[in-house]
This record gives sequence, C-alpha cells and structure tokens, in this order.
Amino acid sequence: LRGDEVIVVSNREPYIHEKQQDGSLVVRRPASGLVTAVEPVMRACSGTWIAHGSGSGDRAAVDRHDHVPLPPGEDEYQLRRLWLTEEQEQGYYYGFANEGLWPLCHVAHVRPVFREQDWEHYRNVNQLFADAVVAEARSEDPVVLVQDYHFALLPAMVRRKLPRATILTFWHIPWPNPESFGICPWRREILEGMLGSTILGFHTRYHCKNFIETVDRYLEARIEHEHSTITYGGEDTLVESYPISIEWPSPEEAREWPSPGQCRTELFERLNIPAGHRVAVGVDRFDYTKGILERLNAVERLLEKHPEWRDRFTFVQVAAPSRGALEEYRAFRERIERATARINERFGRPDAPVVRLLAQHHDHDQVMRLYRAADVCMVTSLHDGMNLVCKEFVAARDDERGVLVLSRFAGAAREMPEALVVNPYHVEETADALHQALTMPPAEQRERMASLRSTVHEYNVYRWAGRMLADAARLRLRQRVSD
Ligand code: G6P
Repeated sequence: LRGDEVIVVSNREPYIHEKQQDGSLVVRRPASGLVTAVEPVMRACSGTWIAHGSGSGDRAAVDRHDHVPLPPGEDEYQLRRLWLTEEQEQGYYYGFANEGLWPLCHVAHVRPVFREQDWEHYRNVNQLFADAVVAEARSEDPVVLVQDYHFALLPAMVRRKLPRATILTFWHIPWPNPESFGICPWRREILEGMLGSTILGFHTRYHCKNFIETVDRYLEARIEHEHSTITYGGEDTLVESYPISIEWPSPEEAREWPSPGQCRTELFERLNIPAGHRVAVGVDRFDYTKGILERLNAVERLLEKHPEWRDRFTFVQVAAPSRGALEEYRAFRERIERATARINERFGRPDAPVVRLLAQHHDHDQVMRLYRAADVCMVTSLHDGMNLVCKEFVAARDDERGVLVLSRFAGAAREMPEALVVNPYHVEETADALHQALTMPPAEQRERMASLRSTVHEYNVYRWAGRMLADAARLRLRQRVSD
C-alpha cells in the first residue's frame, strides 16, 4: 500500500488536550485498548486520523482546519478533530454506543438500552464522520481504517460517496451470537452499514463466525463460507480474524526502564506496603466487563483459605475512571469500593490495607513500573474482545519473572495458554490460581514467561495491521485487474 492514502476513523482520539486551571494546556493519552494498538500503526504509515475532540483544551490546540500534528513535537501524522454537541455525545456515545452496543456485544449481565433518540444521534454522528472522511480524502480510492462499534453505519455511508475506497473496519469488541444480537431493534441497519466494508475484522474466528451467522439470519446475503466472504447489495466483504496486539518495546526503550527491584522499592515506598509482602496487580478501566469484583472476591477467598497470606499479601488495583456519566458505571464503581472496604475490614490492618484501589488514570510509564514491580498480574474479564493489559504485562517482564492469571473469556486466552487460565465466575478456581501464582517456583515462572513473551513479540501490533493491510492490498489489486 506504499503511496496510498490512509485515513483512520475512531471515536476516541489518540491524544487529549486538557486545559489547566492556570489556562495552560497539558496533553495526555487516554486509557483505550484501541488507541494503544492503532497509534503505533498510524505513526508508521502517517496519514490522517479523524476522531472526536473530547478534551477541554482540544479546541485551543487545533489549527483553522481543526488539524493537530501528532505525536506532539514529532509530527508523524495528523489528527482531525470533530466537535459534537452535548446532545450528540449523549445520544451517540453514551446512549447508543455505550448503553446499547457495548452491553449487547459483550453479552454482559447489564441489559442493553435502546432509545430512538440515541439511535438518531448515532446515525447523524456516523454521517458527520463519514462526511469528514470524504472531505479529508485527497484521492478517490483512499484506504479508510474504521475503528470500533461507534461506527457501524459509517462504512456504507463512505462507500456511497467513495465507491473505490478500500474500507477496513475493525470491531474491537466481541460479536455475540445471532439470538443475542437479534434483540437490537436496528439489527438490519447495523449489519447493512458494516457490510459497506471491504474487509471486516474481528479478534477471533469465533467472533467472525458469530457475525456471519448473524448476517445469515437477518439479511438476504450470499455467504461463501469457504472464503469467509459475504456478498450483499453487489458488494463483497471479507470477514477475517486479526488478533490485535501491542507494540513490542524497542531495545532502546527497554534499556531506559528502571530495574524490577527498583520499581518494587518505589512501589512499596509510595503505597507504604510492608516489606516482604507479595504483590498482585490489576489494571483496567472502571468497567463492568472487566471482572474486577470477581477478582476481589478471589482475593478475599484466598485469604480465607490460606491464612498464611494474611499480612503477607497486597493487591493493587489501578482503575481508570471511565464513562462516569452513566449510572451503570457509577454503580459499578461503588460496588468495587464497597468490596474493597469489606476485604480491608476483614483482613487488613489500618496502616496496611490488603486492597489498594487507585482510582486514577495512570500513564504508560507508571503502569509499566507497576507491572515490573508485581509478582502476579490478574486479568479476569467476564468477556473481552482481546485485552491488551496481559500483553503489556509480559512485554514489561524482560526479567522473565511474574505470573499472569488470565480469564478464559478474554480473546487473548487463545494465544496465551502458558498463563494460568481461569473462569473468573468460579471464585474458588481463581483463588486457587492466585495461590498457585504466588507460590510458583522461579524456574516455572521463567519457562511460562519466556514462552508468552516470544508469542507477543512475534504477534505484535504490526503483524495485526500488516496482515490486514496485506489483505487490503490483495483486494485492491484484484479490483484494479478487473476494472
Ligand atoms: C474499549 C473500546 C475502545 C474505547 C476504549 C476506552 O477498548 O473498544 O473503542 O476507546 O474501550 O473507552 P472510551 O469510551 O473511554 O473510549
């Protein structure tokens, strides 16, 4: 695709400018698996990234075309910010995307909410972004990389205006089975919108299969199972799995890291953790799909079953505030706070609580240090498209120490069987895995970690993007030949 124009569309922007009290601007990276994965790719292929300008200082940072060169000071690609009204953000982002599609696709035990008004905003905002793609495009056949469930309708909208564009849509969250998806009142429109894509990517084969079955159930489309292609309205869409990943740290970057021992000393000092404690960590957004409550229950069960860990174990949970305008998210946060208080009451000392809940955004560097300081990392999602925390944890452990406890319901579990794979709904099993992790001999840690590291090193985010772009190049060539 050398020389081709690349345009990325996502709701979340890769950098957010916030206005400080003194009027100055600070720039930060949001907590988003999507941004973690797509940003390195964008740096490698330049082009334009279109996203919602959501920060309080975002308007102050753009030029008169609403463009910002990024990353700050490096100017490798450009961001085009789009502005949404409060009603649009409410209906499209909070409403339809996060109260409708998010629980719908995760089959979380939170009932999806579908409001006519939200749907209308969702449609309009998709049109707004589609128009921006067309306006930004300098050629008639750009490569458009559409990201996630915020933009199910956009592919078909862009296709109408730019019939020769190569549209790659990646769905970063799971796709449910046809029965579960069928409760969405606008299932037909959503499927038709997505089928405007040249390629439709999911993390796993299983999600692809669910999607194809959903189309088979609700649309009159031609499906070629052998080639995993759907033909609808005279257009072909390839449905493929592309497991997403992270950028593997460069040797130069890794050389800059403080040693695990140093990270540990800093962590113990900062949180005042008693010397000699073993430490497990969790790093998530405050989200009900992440299994944070189940994880805390497992910690509690560990201390009930194994009194030897009382006074010798600390659990550090980083939870970045997320979608706090939604009641479901606020209630979830309160549940976590109550569970934390309960466990600390039962098993902690006033000067040494067992569970440390750090409910703030932590930047990449801080999270890296935490991973390097930990004995165990717990990823216990109830359902997750992929999950990148587990991959970042192993990338941080160049000392080949530390144990990963990983939910079987995260897409990553398929690629990372050397982790201690658990069913997070099964408290006993998760508590046992935590105990096993805490008592695992160094040689076994090393063996498992070395194997996990070689997988993530090899199947890194460039492989994810590379495979998708190679498929795109193949289809573009085919189109040119047939013209
Ligand atoms: C998940 C979604 C992303 C989203 C991220 C953070 O990873 O797949 O699209 O950006 O969560 O959520 P937020 O709503 O803050 O963007």
